Amino acid sequence: MTVQDTRVRPFDEAALAEAAALILAGQPVAVPTETVYGLAADATDGEAVARIYAAKGRPSFNPLIVHVPDLAAAAALGEFDGPARELAERHWPGPLTLVVPLRAGAPVASLVTAGLPTVALRVPAHPAMQALLMATATPLAAPSANRSGRISPTRAEHVLASLAGRIPLILDAGPTERGLESTIVAVGGGLRLLRPGPIDIPGAVPAGAGAIEAPGMLGSHYAPTRPVRLHAGERRAGEWLIGFGAVGGDDNLSPSGNLEEAAANLFAALHRADAQPVRGIAVAAVPDHGLGQAINDRLRRAAADRE
Ligand code: TXA
Ligand code: MG
Repeated sequence: MTVQDTRVRPFDEAALAEAAALILAGQPVAVPTETVYGLAADATDGEAVARIYAAKGRPSFNPLIVHVPDLAAAAALGEFDGPARELAERHWPGPLTLVVPLRAGAPVASLVTAGLPTVALRVPAHPAMQALLMATATPLAAPSANRSGRISPTRAEHVLASLAGRIPLILDAGPTERGLESTIVAVGGGLRLLRPGPIDIPGAVPAGAGAIEAPGMLGSHYAPTRPVRLHAGERRAGEWLIGFGAVGGDDNLSPSGNLEEAAANLFAALHRADAQPVRGIAVAAVPDHGLGQAINDRLRRAAADRE
């Protein structure tokens, strides 16, 4: 996380062009949607997505919502069966997020889905976010543009108060209309309400407090089936070693010890390890600062799930 100058620019063509250039260079940019201001980054670029987490100072990885310009773009990334398509046609563009199976080979960074086989998709109605999607021509991952644990921003000045010095640019298009994050519904085996929001979906069954897929619930994350051993300095018999920095291995999260690169590689590395004909997975120590805290949180859970 490098300290940087955060500029607030009124949303116009020049500001949009700058925002698009930053996003295509792998930087996160704050942009209004009809719900709250989002912190958007290229969803196909794991390191760009890692910078969202770094800026928010989030101590863990939640799967993120991917924003796309229309249903056709959504259907390129996720599988839309009858019910999902019906909901999308009725409510998009608008504040509804649909969790659907991730399409095989879809170019979505595994850090976006936290390694899950599903993806959360939404077509936003706000002209600024729509314009940014058109200008970048890439799907945009965007959680609310606030420091982790703070309230969601509905004005550019809220974003600035929370993220000044941590992101390069905030597009300012005034207060958001809805002021509340999108409704999230998981489709498949009936409709499950993962997060209530501006749109009421009749027939969606609330996942309920403590349910595994409620917002931010970490139980929904991908967990390896093999035992995971942390802070490994070397490979023991029957293990697959995921290295970091100087600790080499069968795989390495980041040979140069870069935490953004390590975060971007984390879930793919766990999947690869889990697919090996080995008894266990060992992982080298990752420094516990900045993004390293989120990486270590996820690794502790991966290890604990098998205890
Ligand atoms: O209104 C909104 O939706 C705002 C604006 C910026 O668009 N975005 C937003 O995104 O709230 P985000 O990334 O913070 O929402 C993440 C939540 C997760 O905590 C989780 O509840 C759900 O979306 N989610 C994402 N992917 C999921 C998945 N594959 N399975 C289950 N839930 C998922
Ligand atoms: Mg939020």
